[in-house]
Amino acid sequence: MSTSPLDRAAVLILSRAGLKAEPASRARLERLLQESASLAGVPLQSYVTMVDTQPAAFDELLDRVTVQHSSFFRDPAQFVAFAQLARAASGAPNTVWSAGCGNGQEPYSLAILLDEIGCNNWHVVATDVSFHALARTEKGEYTEHELQGLSIARRQKYLRRKGSGFEIVPSLRRNVRIAHQNLAHADPQFVVPEAAAVFCRNVLMYFGREESQASIQRIAGRIAPGGHLFLGHSDSPGPMNAHFEPVQVAGALCYRRLAKAANTSPLAGRSQPAVRPAPNLSGLLAEGDQAAANGDLRAAVRAFRQATYLDPNVAVAYFQLGAALELAGDLREARRAFGAAGLAMMRGDGNEDLSGLGGYTRRDLARAIAVKLTDSAMAMPISGAP
Ligand SMILES: C[S@@+](CC[C@H](N)C(=O)[O-])C[C@H]1O[C@@H](n2cnc3c(N)ncnc32)[C@H](O)[C@@H]1O
Repeated sequence: MSTSPLDRAAVLILSRAGLKAEPASRARLERLLQESASLAGVPLQSYVTMVDTQPAAFDELLDRVTVQHSSFFRDPAQFVAFAQLARAASGAPNTVWSAGCGNGQEPYSLAILLDEIGCNNWHVVATDVSFHALARTEKGEYTEHELQGLSIARRQKYLRRKGSGFEIVPSLRRNVRIAHQNLAHADPQFVVPEAAAVFCRNVLMYFGREESQASIQRIAGRIAPGGHLFLGHSDSPGPMNAHFEPVQVAGALCYRRLAKAANTSPLAGRSQPAVRPAPNLSGLLAEGDQAAANGDLRAAVRAFRQATYLDPNVAVAYFQLGAALELAGDLREARRAFGAAGLAMMRGDGNEDLSGLGGYTRRDLARAIAVKLTDSAMAMPISGAP
């Protein structure tokens, strides 16, 4: 019996992104598939084959299938709770991870809060499976309607006018690191430090039961013992007690990560699958180079961005990221990356490994950055891009 295109697409979306297709979402999926197939000018069956075999077609469908809507300080009680935790945390660097960040209001709310309470030892990591959501987060541009939840005072301090809307001020944008990450799969390329807090809200509600459980386990693996997980009210992840205990913080329910057991895995005692080593900086730079050489600019941008994430002080990584973004035609973000390369250069101790730049010296790199930043195409004002 042959499977219908709708069933094939539903299986792909569940197996690759964890998203279930229930009757209502199935009807929506069917409509989206038909629209996309007609836009691509191919029959539905062929379109689903494209989705199956071409990563870009899959990503594009995912951008359309996922619900990326969010708002600032959505569920304010959870932010009050997070502020209490952040104030009480040690002065060592801490991470709060917004997993499934949607259009960015959640990570920027966290960044605003941390700025307000003066916790500059924290950094915010924002991830999503949708490249559209990540691009919106990266841009940090919102219509007036999308600013719901922000007080006038916060709006005035953390946003500025841009055309008919608003944009997050660069000083706040810089505090949010953005990376692609799929919660539905173990991703050895995902290199955030262990988080002291994770916001994963209104994401698992779209997941299948098993996928949701597996994601919780994966998130647990990225939270430091004693760290906290905030879920959305409609997320029903199933049993949490293998890794978390429910706690109330400032009246908000969240989950505290239990100390890691010696080995609670059901696979304990059996031979374990080989674990790929965590990526290192030169590996990511080489991967980015390779992807750029193959013309896969999206993969190149991702690898270079992760390299900047792994070590935010490496000018070469920012420079490579800028070059890949420039090639991809995103001049605004390229300029931002070249600017970051310049800053990293100024912070650097001069011992940076420049092997990724084919024999360039430090002075060459400084000159190249300066040329990029004064190039007429690159030199547009940061807020002047469309
Ligand atoms: C409704 S938004 C939630 C935004 C924000 N967390 C909030 O509560 O306002 C759901 C987000 O989850 C993302 N998402 C869906 N499946 C995902 C997956 N497998 N991995 C990571 N993010 C995913 C979607 O792309 C979307 O941006």
